[in-house]
Amino acid sequence: MINKCLFPAAGYGTRFLPATKATPKEMLPILTKPLIQYGVEEAMDAAIFSMAIVTGRGKRAIEDHFDISYELEHQLEGKPDKEALLQDIRNIINKCTFSYTRQKQMLGLGHAILTGETLIGNEPFGVILADDLCFCEQKSVLAQMVEVYRKYQCCVVAIEEIDKNQTHKYGIIEGKYIDDTNDILRVSSMVEKPDPKEAPSNLAIIGRYILTPEIFDILRKTKPGRGGEIQITDALNTLAKEGKVVAYKFKGKRFDCGSVDGFVEATKFFYDLYKNRG
Ligand code: UTP
Repeated sequence: MINKCLFPAAGYGTRFLPATKATPKEMLPILTKPLIQYGVEEAMDAAIFSMAIVTGRGKRAIEDHFDISYELEHQLEGKPDKEALLQDIRNIINKCTFSYTRQKQMLGLGHAILTGETLIGNEPFGVILADDLCFCEQKSVLAQMVEVYRKYQCCVVAIEEIDKNQTHKYGIIEGKYIDDTNDILRVSSMVEKPDPKEAPSNLAIIGRYILTPEIFDILRKTKPGRGGEIQITDALNTLAKEGKVVAYKFKGKRFDCGSVDGFVEATKFFYDLYKNRG
């Protein structure tokens, strides 16, 4: 069973400056909903209701978003059309618990995940990078991954095929297909942001993981890698060499909302969806 989902949300979001100077990147909205709310809804679709969020300085808006605003509630009381606008977030607040810890120095995604250990403890957990926004008409991407975890009982990374000339932007895996539909691979190694010439494949890791708690001890020993940051890919590579990582080609779409292009693409996509549904 996966009961908790970790959201590393301490990064500076420099690609969105100046918007992210005083506003967390995770609070930037696609239409009317902040990125992190899409992530929380995805976790709920996977029957996970315990959200663990790694924040940093200047990220307090995330905590306020997942809390009741009495002043606003009072203002909207008795105005059903307005109250309806808060219905989704109220539902989330009622159903989920939120716990927070701060990453004091932004030493990389691996370090952010290690910082979350205090909230996760000794159990397998999901990880959502809210700036990778995923959409699937049926089951959410994390819900699909929970099913994969149930079967293989080891770490799961979500992957997608990318253009080979883009490998320097992603963690790239090497592995062998182990299922009939060619959706799941046993990972033999992985490398962070390789040059296209050195990349072992065009299968890129996106911002969704299911991790087993042994990752924490490995992260503690992981030295800074690419960009001087402690990389989750390097820690997972240790487990991959022991055959303890599978990669899953998820069903659905992913938008890289950490980049301006991906953010605009997601906005167009969700706007069309909203218009078509009326
Ligand atoms: P990114 O490198 O995409 O995020 O990290 P960033 O650093 O915020 O963005 P740019 O590159 O400056 O625009 C991927 C994810 O890991 C988290 C980020 O918040 C993001 O969700 N992260 C990264 C941390 O929580 N802590 C870190 O030290 C680094």
